[in-house]
Amino acid sequence: MKVEVDEDTCIGCGLCVEICPDVFEMGKDMKSHTKVKKVPDKLKAKVKEAAQSCPVQAIKVSD
Ligand code: F3S
Repeated sequence: MKVEVDEDTCIGCGLCVEICPDVFEMGKDMKSHTKVKKVPDKLKAKVKEAAQSCPVQAIKVSD
């Protein structure tokens, strides 16, 4: 599973970083960035939860 944050869409609410800090981090630009391109199996559920929780649907997951 891959994950990307659309930085133009992200409003920096920080929910994804709170839910899954192993994958998302807040940049100096106050946008979320991914630390990994490929999501480890054990973090898939958290990443999906983060994607669903993002208020502006800035997180894209794909297989
Ligand atoms: Fe941005 Fe959505 Fe995360 S607004 S900080 S990608 S929860």
